[in-house]
Amino acid sequence: MTYEQATTLLKKNGQEQLLRFWKKLSAAERKALLAQIEKIDFKEVARCQKVLSGEVAATAKKGKPTAPKVAELKGAALKKAVAAGEKELAAGHVGVLLVAGGQGSRLGFDGPKGAYSIGPVTGASLFYFHARKILAASIKYAVRIPFYVMTSEANYDATVAHFEDNGYFGLDPEDVIFFRQGMWPGMTADGKIILDQPGRVFMSPDGHGGMISALKANGCFADMKKRGVKTLFYFQVDNPMVEVADPAFIGLHTIEKSEYSLKLCAKRDPNEGLGMVVKRDGHFDMIEYTEMTDEMNNRRTKTGDLYFKFGSPAIHVFDRAFLERLASKDMPLHLAHKKIATVDEKGKVVKATEPNGYKFEKFIFDALPEAKGVTCFAFDRAEEFSPVKNAEGKDSPATCKADLQAKWRRQLAAAGVQVSEKVPVEIDPVYALDAAEIAQMGLLLTAW
Ligand code: UD1
Repeated sequence: MTYEQATTLLKKNGQEQLLRFWKKLSAAERKALLAQIEKIDFKEVARCQKVLSGEVAATAKKGKPTAPKVAELKGAALKKAVAAGEKELAAGHVGVLLVAGGQGSRLGFDGPKGAYSIGPVTGASLFYFHARKILAASIKYAVRIPFYVMTSEANYDATVAHFEDNGYFGLDPEDVIFFRQGMWPGMTADGKIILDQPGRVFMSPDGHGGMISALKANGCFADMKKRGVKTLFYFQVDNPMVEVADPAFIGLHTIEKSEYSLKLCAKRDPNEGLGMVVKRDGHFDMIEYTEMTDEMNNRRTKTGDLYFKFGSPAIHVFDRAFLERLASKDMPLHLAHKKIATVDEKGKVVKATEPNGYKFEKFIFDALPEAKGVTCFAFDRAEEFSPVKNAEGKDSPATCKADLQAKWRRQLAAAGVQVSEKVPVEIDPVYALDAAEIAQMGLLLTAW
């Protein structure tokens, strides 16, 4: 894009201020700024402006929310679901989606969050546990399971480097597909795009909901089709306990012919920060924890149970065709009021002391009302959910390591191996994914 083209484009969209320091910029800064302007999607900018001006509600929610039906599978029903999921896996229909574009700022870790060391014995990273589970499943079902990893612009290079430095954790690099999510410019309340340096537009990642358009833009849907992938297991980077590509969950999704399935777990306490799946107006929907009222969090049933009992750990299964259908639709926008550095009239960078601008994000769970079939599946959080979110306290590396250890000890005990509480334990998912596999490995070793 040339300077003249940029001027015309910005004028048409009322954003001429982005070139106001042009004369002061170096050749490299000019080139970088033009490249940024070229990438801005002005159709989406106009949508953000409508939300800012109140012309369009960011997220229009109608109807009284009620708790959805949640399947708790046991016995024959569980066996049937596992068999259906194993069939889907063995047929090569399953792909894995990981959203890893977030910044990890609450954790205070300077790097891609997935590179954070969590292995209690080996110090292995979050990415290690995710990748090794995919490798274990592809060995078990003798198939290739493509692993689509969404990064942001900011952590793409470091994420790829972490996989390269670790030999892709044993996965075939051809089956690991990294892609970048979109970036959106920040705006002031009057809809003007912000420069955070004289030659730089302030851009931020477009949220995990940006995954859908990014899958399309990066040719991932085409890649999935070529590979025969129909069902996608989705999860977040911060939870090393997740049962990646869990056959029971995938099986239930296919049996129920759902387009979007969610794993849900009982909340630890009424105010735990988990999104809440609800039904309203005949549709499924998610209420983010920041939007739950005290009354909703604490509402009880006649038997004393929490009415909104099950929270979402953001573990989903999607039909590929469903996500592809959504790629051509506008997703709702969520705005966050933030402190954003700006540039004064003289071109001096000014740090913000109060929130002065808006960032826009899309959330993946806003796909819920669009889904033709939705299934909610309850699971035991002690086995599958212990996220690393904060540096200390709840949901921290310390609680996650303790929960991992407790899980592995339970598996070893169930396989007949007693380990002293004092001995640290860590099991490579490729060695064994559960107690039955540990017992099997034990028998093999004894026979050998
Ligand atoms: C999230 C969910 C919440 C859920 C909880 C479970 C949101 C808004 N809320 O909360 O409903 O109960 O996890 O642990 O997501 N990410 C991107 N790109 C982005 C932003 C985020 O890839 O632009 C990824 C992150 O890397 C992470 C995931 O999305 O893997 C969740 O982001 P995070 O900010 O950690 O969400 P939470 O507030 O913890």
